[in-house]
Amino acid sequence: MNDSTAVVVSGIKPTGRVHLGNYLGMIRPVLRLAAKHESYVFVADGHALTTVEDPAQLTRLSRELTAVLLALGLDPSRTVLYRQSDLAEVFELGWILACSTPKGALNRAHAYKAAVAANRVAGRPTDEGVSAGLFTYPVLMAADILGMAGTAVPVGADQAQHLEVTRDVAVAFNHSYGPVLTVPEAVVDRDVAVIPGTDGRKMSKSYDNIIPILAPPEEMGRLVRGIVTDSRRPEEPKDPTTCALYGLYHHLATPDESRALAERYVAGGIGYGEVKALLTEALIATFAPARERYQVLIDNPAGLDAVLFEGAERAKARVRDVLERVRSARGLAV
Ligand code: TRP
Repeated sequence: MNDSTAVVVSGIKPTGRVHLGNYLGMIRPVLRLAAKHESYVFVADGHALTTVEDPAQLTRLSRELTAVLLALGLDPSRTVLYRQSDLAEVFELGWILACSTPKGALNRAHAYKAAVAANRVAGRPTDEGVSAGLFTYPVLMAADILGMAGTAVPVGADQAQHLEVTRDVAVAFNHSYGPVLTVPEAVVDRDVAVIPGTDGRKMSKSYDNIIPILAPPEEMGRLVRGIVTDSRRPEEPKDPTTCALYGLYHHLATPDESRALAERYVAGGIGYGEVKALLTEALIATFAPARERYQVLIDNPAGLDAVLFEGAERAKARVRDVLERVRSARGLAV
């Protein structure tokens, strides 16, 4: 995407230790796009309310995610970095938008459908454990994006459908009340759609198969050694495309390094132990600088708060402007 007038908006949920799947699937694409455009990146703590129950934990996770983003190179003088819950306006906009969102669109939204499907499989009542917040999750996303008048929204492939809800809401609102909202586009990097975890399934906290990006080197080595492979011996030819080790390595190495490794797989003569050592090295090299910066940042909570305070001020000015036009368009007090 190289539209110089693009306004990038994206949120990342603070739900646990940041792992390689989060990083490759969401954080890295967001940071790359944000570095080149006017951009608004936020810690989606309001969305995390649907899953994180412990208040102290939510506050801690939000602070940690802020430090991780800064440690990975987000430049807060270029990208407006804020915490969603610092913007009461976003939640307010969410209500107004909910009133022009068809309930049927939310019935079809995939986070909700996945929860319902899990209940069905377990033989539980359809909506058991489903909060109204989980159901209206896509409306709050719409408020995040439309409130900042974003044009480009980098998201993982799993969020593309939620983005469609945002677009539909904006188009319908504009049709009824005039051209108030900016209709955004999703930016999805298909190449990183699925990052394999240590058991070969999609890397996910709920499968307990993650590699935390800021894990100490020993832990990194141990986790990589535990990655499941087939049982081909070193001399046998191997298939890089189905191997989790290669699946992770090629996202971290240069194209030349990846090609060289793929050739060794196909030719035979490389054992998985050697690949694991290469992958561990690549992980440590990629994340060691961020790990150091993270430690400095997390030890200075006042510094983090200052970044978030300034980000919230800048973001508020923008969302207030949109909100005022939305309120006026709907006949609310302005
Ligand atoms: N729902 C996104 C996720 O689970 C996070 C998110 C919240 C988001 N609001 C957003 C992403 C707005 C992009 C734009 O990953």
